[in-house]
Amino acid sequence: MQNLPGKTAFVTGGASGIGLGIAKALLRAGMHVVIADVRDDHLQAAQAELGSAARLLALKLDVTDRAAYARAADAAEKRFGKIHLLCNNAGVAVVGPTIRATYADWDWVMGVNLGGTINGIVTILPRIQKHGEGGHIVNTASMSGLMPHPGATIYGTSKGAVVSMIECMRAELEPQGIICSAFCPGAVQSDIANAAKNRPAALAETGYAESDKRRQQGGNFFHLYRTKEEVGERVLQGILNDELYIMTHSEFREGVEDRAQAMCAAVPQLPGNEEYKRTFSVLFRNPIHAAEIERQRGLKA
Ligand code: NAI
Repeated sequence: MQNLPGKTAFVTGGASGIGLGIAKALLRAGMHVVIADVRDDHLQAAQAELGSAARLLALKLDVTDRAAYARAADAAEKRFGKIHLLCNNAGVAVVGPTIRATYADWDWVMGVNLGGTINGIVTILPRIQKHGEGGHIVNTASMSGLMPHPGATIYGTSKGAVVSMIECMRAELEPQGIICSAFCPGAVQSDIANAAKNRPAALAETGYAESDKRRQQGGNFFHLYRTKEEVGERVLQGILNDELYIMTHSEFREGVEDRAQAMCAAVPQLPGNEEYKRTFSVLFRNPIHAAEIERQRGLKA
């Protein structure tokens, strides 16, 4: 998406960590920014950090609450007119062996990371489409969505889903001037280790209490992580470049290649059915991938 000044962004989970970094970069780029977040303490601290009162609206929102999401979108439109950019960024995590996962662990993480993103699409996409000025949707996934690893079954499931969502929507919405991007960061300094603080009482039963405690106490690795400002700027560039995958870390390259090659290696050596291929051609190749290879070549040239 181009011509950002004066346009409006709606950033969920925008009051801490990566969302706050994105909000900062978008404000710097001249956008109106709505930060929608479930935590009052994060909203207060973010407002103090962001300043920019005239172009900032801070809203309390639990992205899993559909009625509240519609009210938040109404409030954003009332204040700024139209929404152009949706950043589905709110997210939570549990980490540890799959066997420990309760239904509540699955429901909480999938509810926020995937359900909250679905609610963003259903609530805001029609509003972007209706004003006809074009727009952009950025799903904050993770490298865990592209390079799934042991110990992150629930989280990786949610993040893989929001990458696929973008890959499905991209070619469908691009002709309407709505660009879709999957933002896939590696580790970033944030408050996500404390996400369980705001876990709803109805979904409190967890198999990860011990690993949560260890994660909060366990050594400080922030020196290995990117800052919210660095990745916020990267998202801004990714939006301006219309990138399909907005990535931040090079360390994952070999793992992503291994995964793609493992999939190719598993394709059976059978003759293809040409009629099947002709009849359902949309299934076999998604033009967004070839287009992205070209785009990235151009950007790196
Ligand atoms: P964070 O905890 O600092 O920020 C997330 C924000 O989302 C918080 O302010 C929190 O209050 C809010 N939030 C949580 N549940 C919510 C809900 N139901 N409704 C509305 N807001 C809610 O964490 P971080 O790391 O900045 O996370 C942002 C996104 O980045 C998440 O989707 C996360 O999965 C993703 N991510 C984070 C990475 C990291 O290393 N920090 C790496 C890859 C992806």
